[in-house]
Amino acid sequence: MHIDSTEKKWIYISFFIAFLMIGILTAYAINYNIKPPSNVETIDSTRLHLTAEFNEDNLGIKRAQDGVIEVTMVAARYGFYPQNMKVPVDTPIRFRIASADVLHGIHTAYTNLNTMVVPGYISEVTTTFPNTGEFSMFCNEFCGLGHAYMWSHLYVVPKAEFKLDGSK
Ligand code: CUA
Repeated sequence: MHIDSTEKKWIYISFFIAFLMIGILTAYAINYNIKPPSNVETIDSTRLHLTAEFNEDNLGIKRAQDGVIEVTMVAARYGFYPQNMKVPVDTPIRFRIASADVLHGIHTAYTNLNTMVVPGYISEVTTTFPNTGEFSMFCNEFCGLGHAYMWSHLYVVPKAEFKLDGSK
């Protein structure tokens, strides 16, 4: 089969571009620790308030059995609960989030806290906040008329200022 030499060149160029893009994505994913969701845990979204983990009294921040600081949250139209949260800087924080109704997302800019919150599943993300300050956790999946107002406050404080008082 004859392939024109110009056409051959373009075949090489298009392959080069494809592999270059795969390379950039891979380097970016490794460098910024971006991973596909791998935590498949199911839950009945209509009965969150009856579960041990996601009932109202258990939401918030606590130290998990493995010693990691864990934040338990419920996403529901139109808010994340609890709505104000204080976490220590430079410390791995594990977020466990469940939706009480429809599909939501949670996103904090410049961090890898960015996941869909799919009803029926528990979303889990571990992240470390490198800077202190006040941040927002936004919903980034359109979930209804109040979607634009669905967000909560995250206060990242110096380690010395952070206290785990009781279970929250
Ligand atoms: Cu919740 Cu958009």
